[in-house]
Amino acid sequence: MSDTRPIGVLDSGLGGLTVAHEILRLMPGERIVYLGDTARYPYGNRSDEVIRAFTLECARELCKHNIKLLVVACNTMAAVAMKIIEQHLHDVPVIGVILPGVRAAVLRTADRKIGVIGTHATIRSSVYKQSIQRIDASIKVYETSSPLLLPLVEERMFDHDIARMAAQFYLYEMMDGGVDCLILGCSLFPPLFEVVQGTVGTRMQVLDSALWTAKEAQDILTALDLKSGSRDGGVERSAFLFTEKPEGSHRLMELFYGAPLTEYSIVAINRGTV
Ligand code: DGL
Repeated sequence: MSDTRPIGVLDSGLGGLTVAHEILRLMPGERIVYLGDTARYPYGNRSDEVIRAFTLECARELCKHNIKLLVVACNTMAAVAMKIIEQHLHDVPVIGVILPGVRAAVLRTADRKIGVIGTHATIRSSVYKQSIQRIDASIKVYETSSPLLLPLVEERMFDHDIARMAAQFYLYEMMDGGVDCLILGCSLFPPLFEVVQGTVGTRMQVLDSALWTAKEAQDILTALDLKSGSRDGGVERSAFLFTEKPEGSHRLMELFYGAPLTEYSIVAINRGTV
């Protein structure tokens, strides 16, 4: 059976476009409806209550587009609001960006030491640590919130001494501790991949969860028999929605999507109750 309904991809801003890109690369017959809550970005410094309320509102908005799978591509949303999404949205399968990254890291750490960097809210939730240790309690997890890295990406300063200093500042403890696998636990961090890998050296493998999340989406669609058999998918048949025109939009979108995205729409989110 062929299910041509779109896949919903949710993020607080533009970072989740990396996940959207990987999904369409792996499954070119699929369509995506992407929603980035640019009007209320960033989420990472907000309280859990607000993150949960905003995420649920956005998830409900995406569900209006008849999606067959909801992919929560924002680490902060997934860390704080996965449960509330699952409690309120029963008609659509939901996956988050955290577990695919966790599984990839657990398989790769030889020394049983995994590092995670992300926003304050993601690290405060301790979801990465709990998920890793649920698989293997003997793995030591180093979690560090690294909020200074976000504006560096927004300002496209990834190949810059300030980025190298910030990476050094946040990662020295993990390097000292012998971490051999580092999860980039924020959807905005993939453009920092090279500066981070350059800082930690080859002893530490740096993982960006976008690819693993896309693979998980593929596995779920296959298992539930929801894959599209269409040849008519891809970026041209997808929709990119934002709650406010993103600042410096085209260059940043290109940075995360990997190609220019000129067509997008602005939507208003219905404020609901949790
Ligand atoms: N998208 C968020 C994440 O992956 C980072 C940006 C924010 O603070 O909203 O954690």
